[in-house]
Amino acid sequence: MLQISSDCTKCAKCVKVCPTSIIEMTDNGPLLKPERIKGCIKCGHCVSVCDKGALDHQLVPLANQESTDNVINSPEAVKATMRSVRSIRNYRKTPVSKELIADIADAARYVPTARNTQQVSYLAVLNPETVKLLADKTVDYFAEAIEAGEPWVRPYRGLVRVYRDKGYDIVFRGAPHVLISVYPKSQYYGEDNARLGMVYARLQASVHNIGTCWAGFFEMYAVAKPEEVAEILKIDADMRVGAAVMFGHPAFKYHRLVEREPLNISFI
Ligand SMILES: Cc1cc2nc3c(=O)[nH]c(=O)nc-3n(C[C@H](O)[C@H](O)[C@H](O)COP(=O)(O)O)c2cc1C
Ligand code: SF4
Ligand code: SF4
Repeated sequence: MLQISSDCTKCAKCVKVCPTSIIEMTDNGPLLKPERIKGCIKCGHCVSVCDKGALDHQLVPLANQESTDNVINSPEAVKATMRSVRSIRNYRKTPVSKELIADIADAARYVPTARNTQQVSYLAVLNPETVKLLADKTVDYFAEAIEAGEPWVRPYRGLVRVYRDKGYDIVFRGAPHVLISVYPKSQYYGEDNARLGMVYARLQASVHNIGTCWAGFFEMYAVAKPEEVAEILKIDADMRVGAAVMFGHPAFKYHRLVEREPLNISFI
């Protein structure tokens, strides 16, 4: 399972970082017994932490792990990038290329997932008719709730009027596309994983100058009627929408970073 080279100093860092404690230190160096391999979540920490490059792992080969040397280590730059991500509500109609969309979703692939399950997949809705159908169905869902006198829908009463009477796409704000992260409904922490992935996707999109905004109204509909949404999206009925964002080329450029309430933190 593990190949240890003669560069190993037996520092035991690989043993200490393993989240499932399946590596033991022996007189001959770190050892992962075959019967314990089922406990491996393929996180790659044991390979990554070894500064000697002395450990290779059959399931997470050293050759596939890129060096951290190119990581930007400026806290200011990283924070500024995060602060530059805004909720974009005005879009140009020009489609975003599939290559760009794939790169945005590719960034999401690196998000941490509970037990490293990684079972989140991404759907880019490009067809304008499907985008419109999803918006129509979302509004139908809210209209039905209003008709039924559901108390939770009170704050959203204007939504149906704005969409149907004024013809304004309040669901997707006129964005040409929607990116949706989906997960198997049986997946442990699936919804969290899918939502975290979308946070990474939005960051990468922003750096590409692609605007995004969480599609909360659609998400509410997708949570309420998962099978109906699965049918429209042509995904398995056991898959669930974890997160959705509208996206496209932004109509306007923003010239200021976001400002928020002062930090509220306690140290105990
Ligand atoms: C929603 C969620 C819950 C997690 N819960 C735990 C946890 O209880 N204990 C733990 O050691 N790691 C936990 N993790 C960390 C994952 O195991 C870890 O992200 C994954 O193995 C990938 O490793 P990486 O984050 O170093 O890339 C959690 C991750 C997520 C996203
Ligand atoms: S981290 Fe590297 S050097 Fe240290 S014990 Fe593990 S394999 Fe050996
Ligand atoms: S890849 Fe497997 S053996 Fe290595 S640290 Fe992660 S869980 Fe442990």
